[in-house]
Amino acid sequence: MTEEAHMQMNEPEVHFGADASAARRATGPVILDLKNISLSFGGVKALTDISFDVRQHEIRAIIGPNGAGKSSMLNVINGVYRPQQGQIVYRGEIRKNMDCYAAAKSGIARTFQNIALFKGMTVLDNIMTGRNLKMKSNFLMQALYWGPARREEIAHRIKAEEIIDFLEIQAIRKTPVGRLPYGLQKRVELGRALAAEPEILLLDEPMAGMNVEEKQDMCRFILDVNDQFGTTIVLIEHDMGVVMDISDRVVVLDYGKKIGDGTPDEVRSNQDVINAYLGVGC
Ligand SMILES: Nc1ncnc2c1ncn2[C@@H]1O[C@H](COP(=O)(O)OP(=O)(O)OP(=O)(O)O)[C@@H](O)[C@H]1O
Ligand SMILES: [Mg+2]
Repeated sequence: MTEEAHMQMNEPEVHFGADASAARRATGPVILDLKNISLSFGGVKALTDISFDVRQHEIRAIIGPNGAGKSSMLNVINGVYRPQQGQIVYRGEIRKNMDCYAAAKSGIARTFQNIALFKGMTVLDNIMTGRNLKMKSNFLMQALYWGPARREEIAHRIKAEEIIDFLEIQAIRKTPVGRLPYGLQKRVELGRALAAEPEILLLDEPMAGMNVEEKQDMCRFILDVNDQFGTTIVLIEHDMGVVMDISDRVVVLDYGKKIGDGTPDEVRSNQDVINAYLGVGC
C-alpha cells in the first residue's frame, strides 16, 4: 500500500451513529449489473474479471488501496472507458457502445476525484451546466422563439435554485467557484451532478481532503439525496468510518481484482480484505 493510502487510513474516522445505519434502508431490485468486466491500458490490467451489482436505492461503496481500479470502474459505468471484456446491464438492458453522453442521458451522473468545475463561473452557473441535457431549446430556438426558450430557462433556474437551497449554499450562489474553499467546491460539484436529476449518482472520493466537519456535512447530504430523491449511489471512499456507517454493501478491489463483496460487517471480517486494505484493528 502506498504512503498516501496509509496516511488516509490513519486520519480519524468519521462516524454517524445509528441514524445513518444502512439497515433502515429498503433497497429495490438490481438496477445495474456488471458482469466479468476486464479493462487494460497497454500492459496495465486496471480491472480483471470484476462482477458486482447495484440495487435500486442502495448506497454501494467501492473501496481498496490506491491504484486498485476504483476510478476505472466508475469510468466504465459512465462510459468514459470501454472494457475489453464483460457486460453491463442497466435497467435490464445490455448496454452497447455506451459513451459519456449516452450514460448521462440514461440517468447516470458523477463527480470526479479531482474537482471538474468551471472555476471562473458562479456557483449558480456551474449548477446550471448540470441541466444542459434537460434543455430542449438550442441556440437557434432561443433566437427564433424567444418566449418559450426564456420560459424554459426560468424553469431550469428554479430547479438549480432548489438544489442550491438543498445543499445550503445560498450565500455563495453568485460567487465564482475558484474563490471557494475546497470543501464547498466539492459540494458545488455534487450540486451540478444533482442538477441532472440522476437515477444513479457516482461519487469518486467526495470527501477526500476534507476536515471532519466538512465530511459530516457531505455525509449528511449524501444520505439526504438517497432518502429524499431515492437516488442510487455508488461511492468511492477511503474513510472507513464513513463507508461502514452509510453503505448498504461494499465491494473491495485490490490490484484490479475483486477481493470482497458484502455488507459492511461481512467485509470488515473478510480476512483477504483485512490483509490487503483494512489491516488489524478495524
Ligand atoms: N487512462 C489511463 N491510462 C493508463 N493507465 C491508467 C489509466 N487510468 C487508470 N490507469 C491505471 O489503472 C490502474 C487503476 O487506476 P485507478 O485510477 O482506477 O485506481 P484507483 O483505485 O481509483 O486509485 P486511487 O485510490 O489512487 O484513486 C492504475 O495502475 C492506473 O495507473
Ligand atoms: Mg481513484
